[in-house]
Amino acid sequence: MAETRVRRPRRFLVCEPRHFEVRYAINPWMRPDAPVDVDLARTQWRTLISVYRDHGHTVEEIDPVPGLPDMVFAANSAFVVGGRVFGSLFHSVERRPESEHYDAWFKTAGYDVYRPLSVTEGEGDLVWTGRYVLAGTGFRTSREAHREAQEFFGHPVIALTLVDPYFYHLDTALFVLDDDNVVYYPEAFSTGSQEVLRRLYPDAVLATRDDALAFGLNSVSDGRHVFIAPQAEALAARLDDHGYTPVPVDLSELHKAGGGIKCCTQEIRS
Ligand code: ARG
Repeated sequence: MAETRVRRPRRFLVCEPRHFEVRYAINPWMRPDAPVDVDLARTQWRTLISVYRDHGHTVEEIDPVPGLPDMVFAANSAFVVGGRVFGSLFHSVERRPESEHYDAWFKTAGYDVYRPLSVTEGEGDLVWTGRYVLAGTGFRTSREAHREAQEFFGHPVIALTLVDPYFYHLDTALFVLDDDNVVYYPEAFSTGSQEVLRRLYPDAVLATRDDALAFGLNSVSDGRHVFIAPQAEALAARLDDHGYTPVPVDLSELHKAGGGIKCCTQEIRS
């Protein structure tokens, strides 16, 4: 019998894909020559925001800036725990200007923003588990940034090495279900990192490559509901068996830039 799962209300920061396009390629999903339907992207994204609100979550919006097509991926712009904001320093020059806009949003909202010295892409690679930070490296966020984050927060930071370019951010290969468990796709990680995850989460829900390719690991859980790509049907069924309620939300247009539900969602933990 699956346990009863408990929802905890969240506060999210998001950015409308008003200026969304695929103009450059900084991950294997991006094809600058393939057309993107901005209206569809906006409609799909609006649905995500309504679904969050319908499930009792607070959603705040930052204004999108023309010329910054990846700004919709709000998760990458900071990592916030206990009201402390660890800003980002993007790997690619194309995305670097996003930081000043996000930093300004946080400052207006009353937060100090720590400016990291080494490459770090917010919640793309830094994942809060409730007790410590799981930190991805290999494609974007640097090991040096892990050390900076540990100094800044005073929480343990556990490094995990990503090895598959399709899963270039930790949040494309793993997500946290609640304070006790995670879901991940083992082959996205180096052998040693797979062993670390097995030791930390012996009862983790394991995903397949198909689940991962469908952006099923780029999900958001509130402890009960899991907002998940409808294409990740098999994973959604397994989560249901574990007592979670999958809530499918289709962001297929944003997949063209290599992003999904979690990429579009920055969690502000006060
Ligand atoms: N095009 C963006 C990039 O390559 C997508 C970011 C996706 N965000 C994420 N949290 N995984 O940077």
